[in-house]
Amino acid sequence: MANHGLIVGLDVGTNTIKVLAADVRDQQANIVAVGRSVAHGVKKGVVVDIDATATDIRQAVAQINEQTEQPITEVVASLPASNIQIQHVKGTVTVQDSQHISYEDVANTVQEAIKIQLPSDREVVELIPTEFVVDDFDGIQDPNDMVGMRLAMHGIAYTAPRNVMGNLRLAINKAGLQLRDFVLAPLAYSKTLLDDGQQEFGTILLDMGAGQTSATVVHEHQLKFLSSFPAGSDNISRDISAVLELGLHDADMLKLDSGFALSKLAQEENQLVIKKVSAEEPEQISETLLAQIIEARVMQILGKLGEKLDLVGAFQMPGGVIVTGGGAALRGMTQAIHETYNVQTKLFTPDDIGLRHPGYAGAWALVHYAAQQTPIQLIVKQALYGLPLIVLGQPSMGAQLPRDRRNEKKKQKVEQQRAPQNEPEKAESTEVTDEEQPKKKNRIKNFFAEFFD
Ligand SMILES: Nc1ncnc2c1ncn2[C@@H]1O[C@H](COP(=O)(O)OP(=O)(O)OP(=O)(O)O)[C@@H](O)[C@H]1O
Ligand SMILES: [Mg+2]
Repeated sequence: MANHGLIVGLDVGTNTIKVLAADVRDQQANIVAVGRSVAHGVKKGVVVDIDATATDIRQAVAQINEQTEQPITEVVASLPASNIQIQHVKGTVTVQDSQHISYEDVANTVQEAIKIQLPSDREVVELIPTEFVVDDFDGIQDPNDMVGMRLAMHGIAYTAPRNVMGNLRLAINKAGLQLRDFVLAPLAYSKTLLDDGQQEFGTILLDMGAGQTSATVVHEHQLKFLSSFPAGSDNISRDISAVLELGLHDADMLKLDSGFALSKLAQEENQLVIKKVSAEEPEQISETLLAQIIEARVMQILGKLGEKLDLVGAFQMPGGVIVTGGGAALRGMTQAIHETYNVQTKLFTPDDIGLRHPGYAGAWALVHYAAQQTPIQLIVKQALYGLPLIVLGQPSMGAQLPRDRRNEKKKQKVEQQRAPQNEPEKAESTEVTDEEQPKKKNRIKNFFAEFFD
């Protein structure tokens, strides 16, 4: 695993599969190729038809192959925010080589840390070290080459449902590709879309996709709260189709060409020609009627997520909302969010030529996140995924590490909150408590009163 050369990011969405290839140097990603295809085997961000998804991935990757003129063999894939759980973990080891700490010791702390008790249907997808402790010195970011007897890593483990990861992995393999690693979409967004201040003082990220809308609360550079509502912009198209008796394709076109998120932005006198499935002749409806249908769904989504965000005090954070995802391209959406939540709201759209649509934000964030990985983060990820340890500029550091030692008993550091599953139209959320950082507790408490009480 490396963060230089060609890195290919794969974002398998409910509506569209997006693939970006980036030339990565010095932790900077320069996008060199773009591929996309319509997704036929994905529901609410989850692969439900492996063969159909494999065919769609192949099609999108073929476009990349044409542009880069070199066949892609490996991808980094994003996992959606829904149904993610978070645990604080700790792994401690005795330093192997005469007290001189190496990346192999770091990898060993990862193996210790993931010996957490997990339900059999969950897998660790990301492990983010928060600090290393060498003997009694804490707050160390990279302990490599330091001298000490004992090394501990404190970190945050993100877990996802095993079947969600497994089906996506299978679809990728069936498409003839290797999966390098999974990246959590909310993590990638938080580290690439937000500046330092927004990450420190607190910001809400909103990903308005086709089949789901996900909110992520970032504070003190960490994900503090995730909530997903199982409806997105495709639901708006389906509502238009149902209410106006239009075929889904026509409804979708109407949304894209003439839709507004707020009915007050539409003009009653602007008439739109539609052709109902049951009618012989075309008829006219007002732009306002279309906007009212759209607004009802937008308000439902924002309302449901807003209740959760309000409970954790997220609207008191100074960063406001950064919104992205294809659904955010709907005219008036930024204004609708601003007026509903009463916080400053900004739309994120990638600025690269050919990518200027918020629907590309997920894939864009993915490759930039992969490019930004520090040596220590790469080592931790390699250890987590059981890959041979490769340090940039150094030869491979030995044998593959055992992959699945997670069932051995180890005390859980932080209580896990199970999110409800398969409950349509109900937001599911994950909260993170912060027992590990009592010093910071009082300050955060102001923002997250409900979190810690
Ligand atoms: N200009 C626009 N106005 C309204 N909706 C739009 C616009 N452009 C794209 N969309 C909608 O955005 C959605 C696609 O966005 P995106 O690619 O972010 O979703 P996805 O990643 O496929 O889905 P998900 O993230 O939910 O799995 C579709 O529903 C599409 O109709
Ligand atoms: Mg998406």
